Amino acid sequence: MKEYKVGVIPGDGTGPEVIAEGIKAVDAASNRAGFRIEYENYNLGGEHYKKTGEILSDSVLESLSGLDAIYLGAIGHPDVRPGILEKGILLKLRFHFDQYINLRPVILFEGVETPLKNKGPEHIDFVVVRENTEGLYSGAGGFHKKGTPHEVAIQESVNTRRGVERCIRYAFEYCRKRNKGKKLTLCGKTNVLTYAFDLWERTFNDVAKEYPDIQTDYANVDAICMWMVKNPEWFDVIVTDNMFGDIISDLAAMIQGGMGVSAGGNINPAGVSMFEPIGGSAPKYTGRQVINPIAAILAGQLMLETLGESRAASMIEKAVKKTLRNDLKGVAAGKMGFTTGEVGDLVKGYIVNSK
Ligand code: IPM
Ligand code: MN
Repeated sequence: MKEYKVGVIPGDGTGPEVIAEGIKAVDAASNRAGFRIEYENYNLGGEHYKKTGEILSDSVLESLSGLDAIYLGAIGHPDVRPGILEKGILLKLRFHFDQYINLRPVILFEGVETPLKNKGPEHIDFVVVRENTEGLYSGAGGFHKKGTPHEVAIQESVNTRRGVERCIRYAFEYCRKRNKGKKLTLCGKTNVLTYAFDLWERTFNDVAKEYPDIQTDYANVDAICMWMVKNPEWFDVIVTDNMFGDIISDLAAMIQGGMGVSAGGNINPAGVSMFEPIGGSAPKYTGRQVINPIAAILAGQLMLETLGESRAASMIEKAVKKTLRNDLKGVAAGKMGFTTGEVGDLVKGYIVNSK
């Protein structure tokens, strides 16, 4: 029997609660599809940092490098200054494992409410492909005369031809494989960021020549925000840099029903990828069994899809659709009509009983 090794980082806050339900669904699907997953737990995050002073050691990185994937709950702790855990764990993992794609499917499932008037599941079904290792996230820059009236703070956006090209190429391939609208939109800001997005646009146009079956489009990031609210049905696949991708994928998460149902993958197609619900650690809900595990379950689905287990991934997707359509009263924390564990059980039930 095929076996995968997955590293689990339950992390902070509600991370452990939602990851437990994700594992329930992933195990149910892998049982039915005839493969096995062995989990290895990694105790990382705010509590661990407070206790030990350790954020993410080299030996943990070394151990994670032998895995097939990483399944992450949430990182972020109210007692730890913002930036320490995010940079020290989440961003470090993305960079260390060269997870150069941040993949964010945006699907409005039936039974889920969108804040957009007169829009339904037929209008909201697209994917954001965000570059995940460069741009403003590279950490380049610094202070000059810090703390004085003449202080200078510089934060540089780093864009390499190789980094941009591999991301754009991934997006074209993904768009072709997805086979829905066969349209790839580049999201940039060529009218102002005339170096960075000049490189992006030239690379986009070069790579596009190899994909004559894919229709291409371009929009500035501010316009993308506008269209995403007004005409989300225009989008099939959107490719963009790290910072813009971060911003537009939160907007996208809201129109698909919010953090309770939004999942993402940090992908290195040839290495160790990492999958996470994008909602964060939600400290105020910790341990109360009110948080929605669907986002974590969908992160599990994305993980199986990326591992090449499409049949199992599709079982999870179908089960999530049924749960959202038939059972859940709402998708927000405390509004589901079920506890976190009960939602996991519902999804598992549909997987176990599917044909
Ligand atoms: C995300 C998050 C992270 C990011 C933070 C927590 C560093 O917002 O995954 O989108 O900005 O990439
Ligand atoms: Mn973000």
